[in-house]
Amino acid sequence: MLKMECNGFSRCQKQWLNPLHSNIILTTTFCMKTLANGESITMSLAINFDDVIQAAETITGIVNRTPILTSRTINHLTGYEVYFKCENFQRVGAFKFRGAYNALSRLSEAEKAGGVITHSSGNHAQGIALSAKLLGISATIVMPTDAPQSKMNATRDYGAEIVLYDRQVKVREEVSAQVGAERGLTLIHPYDHPHIMAGQGTVALELLADVPDLDILVGPVGGGGLLSGCSTAAKTIKPNIEIFGVETETSNDWWLSFQQNERVHIPPPDTIADGIRTQQPGELTYPVIRELVSEILLVSDKEVISAMRLLLTRLKILAEPTGAVALAAVLNRLKVTPGSKVGVIISGGNVDEELLANLLQST
Ligand SMILES: Cc1ncc(COP(=O)(O)O)c(C=O)c1O
Repeated sequence: MLKMECNGFSRCQKQWLNPLHSNIILTTTFCMKTLANGESITMSLAINFDDVIQAAETITGIVNRTPILTSRTINHLTGYEVYFKCENFQRVGAFKFRGAYNALSRLSEAEKAGGVITHSSGNHAQGIALSAKLLGISATIVMPTDAPQSKMNATRDYGAEIVLYDRQVKVREEVSAQVGAERGLTLIHPYDHPHIMAGQGTVALELLADVPDLDILVGPVGGGGLLSGCSTAAKTIKPNIEIFGVETETSNDWWLSFQQNERVHIPPPDTIADGIRTQQPGELTYPVIRELVSEILLVSDKEVISAMRLLLTRLKILAEPTGAVALAAVLNRLKVTPGSKVGVIISGGNVDEELLANLLQST
């Protein structure tokens, strides 16, 4: 068992044989404290590798196995071997479908019959709406009155009921808690939920199955569902992989939290990357990411727009702004050994038509 320093608790890594491939050794991480009387307390993180494997078993055949694309131009520009995991080609256009389908599949029969509720103005809403439709569950989505019409329409088309609220007057968590309690619905949180986190981790599971000798993994971080799941999977499969989370400069709650070693709350951020406009790291996702991710990198909105253009013109990949932040970081911030194999998560491709038109017109 390997041990690392941590405040109060020792962070321990236990190595064990992969049940799926007995010749592969896996590593899981947990926190342990030894008391004065010799007893020890174990504090486990919200998910472990097993949860990701179980999620993969649940969603295989339902989710798209998304492609991994490469570009010589981008390798040349960055000096790395870059592998893009293209979740813009996922059902609903983003990785969010993975966690949503996993979470809804694991509800009890009574919970399924009672229906679910969530709050989201974007991709999680669509992920829950489609999963609920496929599983025959009724879904209610709390959305702000100013959510993009295209996302509201897509959510409604999947058969979900939308409850609107004014974001200047009310807090979305309070609205969903109140409506959920009144109607007896089960809340499926967009990121602070073990089955959501584990489902999102299947992105890295697939990436490492296709590119096993990856050195670096870079992905966006909003609430942290995607990065917590992916880092759990990636660090277990390849303990020496280095993982970087990316935010935009104005939505820097994770960056600040890493600096201050506690969950920092920021005012509502103004950034083009609408998927990472969260104000505070998740309660469940933070300990996992703090433990497994090396660093949070910050990029500007301008760098995100350039990365979107590059993806569109060179790779013919349509990424939404949040889907392009990881490439923006690899192009402008990442400093690792030249020639490293770098996995980049393109997390989604749901771009507003007006933004796309502006992007194509800008030089
Ligand atoms: C396209 C896209 N990428 C990344 C994220 C961030 O995901 P998480 O909240 O799991 O960190 C989101 C969240 O909505 C998203 O829609």
